[in-house]
Amino acid sequence: MLTEPAIRADQVGKRFGRTRVLDRLELEVPTGVIYGLLGPNGAGKTTLVRILTTLLSPDSGRAFVLGRDVVAQPQRVREVIGLTGQYAAVDDLISARENLYLIGRLLSLRPRAARVRAAELLDAFGLSEVAGTRVRDYSGGMRRRLDLAASLVGRPAVLFLDEPTTGLDLASRNQLWDMIRGLAADGTTVLLTTQYLEEADRLAGRVMVIDHGRTVAEGTPAELKGLAGGQVLEVRPLDPGDVGGATAVLAGLAGAGRPVVAEDLLTVRVPDDERVAAAARNLDVAGIPVRHFVVRLPSLDEAFLAITGQHAEAAPALPSGAMQVGATTKEGASR
Ligand SMILES: Nc1ncnc2c1ncn2[C@@H]1O[C@H](COP(=O)(O)OP(=O)(O)O)[C@@H](O)[C@H]1O
Ligand SMILES: [Mg+2]
Repeated sequence: MLTEPAIRADQVGKRFGRTRVLDRLELEVPTGVIYGLLGPNGAGKTTLVRILTTLLSPDSGRAFVLGRDVVAQPQRVREVIGLTGQYAAVDDLISARENLYLIGRLLSLRPRAARVRAAELLDAFGLSEVAGTRVRDYSGGMRRRLDLAASLVGRPAVLFLDEPTTGLDLASRNQLWDMIRGLAADGTTVLLTTQYLEEADRLAGRVMVIDHGRTVAEGTPAELKGLAGGQVLEVRPLDPGDVGGATAVLAGLAGAGRPVVAEDLLTVRVPDDERVAAAARNLDVAGIPVRHFVVRLPSLDEAFLAITGQHAEAAPALPSGAMQVGATTKEGASR
């Protein structure tokens, strides 16, 4: 028997009223990997996760988790999955320990086993010290950690994380990323949706980009960056007073993109190495010394823009250092 993928969606379609939210979507996630599902708001990510976790029926197509049919065998699917939804699912008015204990009992653990499992998870997620405190008084990061812990009580083989770190500060996100990596290292398959391209880049071995319910790209993050074409040149003048001059030099580079300025860092898309060499020469001729001159692959964020044709736009209240696909407008929607 060929190894069955952990998750498989075959031509899955879903409409809400007259809106087609998923359009014959195909997905195949091998066992034991972290797989990223990317897309702007409204792309259909949550809808797909809800179908794969048996919370919603597809209108057409079929989907399987570890070979179990999400429509025909929902109970058998639920036995092997965990879900951390986009919105917190734990009870605010009781403590973390009580939440985890209750979930264990709901999953038919005996009282003692439920207590042991709760304690293990509280420890693993750094929540032991606040285990008796009402969840209402937790910080956002603590709450998300509890959410993740809650989805792990039943030791799921396949874990679905729907925007697990949205709204978290960078430190909390890093902490959660480490935990997710640890789960994958232990053999859990993780399907992760995110608007943060950096998150997918750091965590996921493969990603699929969907837009308007359709797949627009699939591959490793590096392959997706390759789709954006070319490379990115970063320049930081030695003297911040030279930013204007350096921008003018880079803007004059034939075949290059428009330079983007962020404080004293200039970024410009260049098609090939010759243009990189030309940039170095022209800066020298202009008498502008630089202290940073680096060529890199496009970021996943830049690739996303190239692939979908949508502008990545920062959402309000974005945690610092985050990149987000926040496109809400769409020109030429027939993609
Ligand atoms: N229960 C629902 N009823 C009607 N429309 C819905 C419902 N759930 C989602 N949608 C619509 O489906 C589209 C995809 O939503 P969703 O799957 O939540 O996208 P994402 O998670 O990628 O932001 C959106 O246009 C959304 O408004
Ligand atoms: Mg969503």
